[in-house]
Amino acid sequence: MSRAEPEQIDLGALGSRSIVLGGFLGVGKTSIGRRLARRLRRSFFDLDALIVSRLGASVPDLFNSGREPLFRETEASILRDLVLASPPSVIALGGGAYDNAGSREFLREHAFVIHLDQSWQALYPALNRLRESRPLLTARSNAESAELYTPRRENYPLGYLPVAIPRGGVARASREVLHALMTYAAKITN
Ligand code: S3P
Repeated sequence: MSRAEPEQIDLGALGSRSIVLGGFLGVGKTSIGRRLARRLRRSFFDLDALIVSRLGASVPDLFNSGREPLFRETEASILRDLVLASPPSVIALGGGAYDNAGSREFLREHAFVIHLDQSWQALYPALNRLRESRPLLTARSNAESAELYTPRRENYPLGYLPVAIPRGGVARASREVLHALMTYAAKITN
């Protein structure tokens, strides 16, 4: 089923919160986030891109040179600054940002988290392509990647809104996310 795009978007009580998109590597957080931000007329921030720019090194370089701890520290710190900044924006997390219990707690308090949820079966065919750019997957077999996926997914019920990502491309997925967001916003506002 396709969704019609509404003209006016009123997020009611959620209007003052930044919208944060989480989910496993490769689910489309950045491309969906960019579209969502355009529809909501908000700024869009990609957390990975900001970390790379601040640290002056690519994600694979940081991970392959043992600097994942610095990456994680910078990730949590930039995330806080973005969420507290005004006006509220749309922020795409990296797949591991929600592993940080402090960040989860902080986001619950100050932002609105959408979990872009994709089943392991749907992600599976993309694993080889993802391995080329995602250092966490490069050294992991498919079975080991599943071991990363499962506990991470369990963190998300602590978030606010799960959206099952449909097949059929970014435009369709973005409409689905917007629809879920507006439905939720209307429910808590009325
Ligand atoms: C990571 C996901 C990546 C990036 C880094 C670590 C993770 O972001 O932050 O490679 O721990 O899952 P994407 O989810 O955008 O690929």
